[in-house]
Amino acid sequence: MCGIVGYVGPDPCAEILLDGLRRLEYRGYDSAGMALIEGTESKILRSQGKLTNLARLLSEHRPTGTTGIGHTRWATHGRPTEINAHPHKYGKVSVVHNGIIENHAMLRAELESNGHKFSSETDTEIVAHLVDDEVKAGRSPKDAVLGALRRVEGAYAICVLVDGAPDQIIAARHDAPLILGIGSGENFVASDVPAILNRTRDMVFLEEKELAVVRADGVEVMDLDGKPVDRKPQRILWDAMMAEKGGHKHFMLKEIHEQPRAVTDTIRDRISAKTAETFIDGFEIEIEKLRRVVFVACGTSYHAALVGKFLVEGLARVPVEVDLGSEFRYRDPLVSDSDLLVTISQSGETADTLAALREAKRKGARVLSICNVVGSTIARESDGVLYTHAGPEIGVASTKAFTTQLAALVLLAIYLGRRTGALDQESAHELIKDLLALPEQMKEVLDRGASVDVIARRYATARDFLYLGRGINYPIALEGALKLKEISYIHAEGYPAGEMKHGPIALIDENLPVVIIAPRGSGYEKIINNLTEVRAREGKVIAIASRGDNEIGSMVDDVIQVPDVRPELQPLLTVLPLQMLAYRVADIRGTDVDQPRNLAKSVTVE
Ligand code: AGP
Repeated sequence: MCGIVGYVGPDPCAEILLDGLRRLEYRGYDSAGMALIEGTESKILRSQGKLTNLARLLSEHRPTGTTGIGHTRWATHGRPTEINAHPHKYGKVSVVHNGIIENHAMLRAELESNGHKFSSETDTEIVAHLVDDEVKAGRSPKDAVLGALRRVEGAYAICVLVDGAPDQIIAARHDAPLILGIGSGENFVASDVPAILNRTRDMVFLEEKELAVVRADGVEVMDLDGKPVDRKPQRILWDAMMAEKGGHKHFMLKEIHEQPRAVTDTIRDRISAKTAETFIDGFEIEIEKLRRVVFVACGTSYHAALVGKFLVEGLARVPVEVDLGSEFRYRDPLVSDSDLLVTISQSGETADTLAALREAKRKGARVLSICNVVGSTIARESDGVLYTHAGPEIGVASTKAFTTQLAALVLLAIYLGRRTGALDQESAHELIKDLLALPEQMKEVLDRGASVDVIARRYATARDFLYLGRGINYPIALEGALKLKEISYIHAEGYPAGEMKHGPIALIDENLPVVIIAPRGSGYEKIINNLTEVRAREGKVIAIASRGDNEIGSMVDDVIQVPDVRPELQPLLTVLPLQMLAYRVADIRGTDVDQPRNLAKSVTVE
């Protein structure tokens, strides 16, 4: 997934665009480029690899243009080379694009048969050719883009410059995010808020199939038939600093330490301690009609959904099904209007989760989304949204978004439990009291991160890791393994501890570190059995245990203690040492922690 930024205003904008691309590099970073209007024509500067290469090019060329578009790429069609980097220019038209043009092969063949010559392997270049044909036919930049988009199928967020129209950017979106930043005497376009948050807080979130003409003195928004649409700017409360590292070595480490604040902000004003009720931002559920809750998500958000099943079934006694977005959408799922579909997504733009949402809506289900990005596509297409207030999450490996998702799921489970009657007022009171105390306990665990360093040093050269957990901590074993895989590139597997003897026990020997999540509570004896089975085969055991558990220390190689809390809240504590372990191991191995290879922050294609 790529990052797009655009500027129209009085200032030379090469540095403004470069700064915006730096803040979007987490979306993709295999090549980059920008087009700047010099005089009346756009000048293209592109480079392969990281933005530093483009920065070098800018310092050589010193462009002065005050209208420009920029792009940082995550290749889908065409290798990550300079020739395939964006912008793509054909004739008078320069285009940057995020998404996939699905009918590009057909259009390319047709254009080539009409004598067009293509210079790249990308799907994007098609758009430049189509718009240029429209311009040659005498249409204005806006009408030329509208005309071209009538031919295009697939997902796109695009920005277009047309030579001869130096005062405007044409921006349009369908199935990929695009935002307009409203300034005074200058305006911006961007794929995501952090890119322009240091220049303006007033954002217009373009809706599906909308186009905007962006000039320095104003923006015009219309649908793809050219009919004007009234779009009011939304003021974003995040401050630019929140998008900066705040003095930490990596965004991921900063975001790990932001979790107590993020959880506090997520539960804030959604709890009535007096009535032991929780609120989900004005979304009401007809509990009598509700037959089942279906969670759908991908990656880390899917692990949160698995915890959600324990919480909702445990506290509300409502049947729950959990599915992966990429599987659900093609499974012709049995959902109906008596089901509540809950999608979970940090970015709100994950294509598989979005498609699952649309599939369930098509079948009559109501949709509630747990999402971290206000105005994102999933949020806009849901019947209700429970926003997590994690703030911008820049590190590709999700951390604070995950724990805020868990907190939101506790709120949802209490909400449902109070309405089904499965959770009485007194029990809800107790749970809410414990939930409100949690951020402080999370801080305690994070402040004692140094104990994780020693363990990380000991196992940083390991070839494989195994993570084991039971019950509500089984998904945390999956999450711990995913974090380590994502940023350290060590092969790691999360497994329900009870399943170990049905296979993975064969992996265990003196070279295999095994992380076992073993807090006090139901299943504790069982997990201790699994722990001894690992030890019996020389496996190196790192236990995540409850404070005050003085027995376990003598049974393992390393133990990391977390405050002893009720099972429903344990995942918000047991995951923290696993995040820190993954972070420290990756940092010791010197990998690119914030932008791990082959990954992107939001996966907006299948
Ligand atoms: C997690 O660290 C990864 N970045 C990835 O698995 C992510 O959780 C997944 O792509 C889902 O993203 P979403 O929450 O934005 O939908």
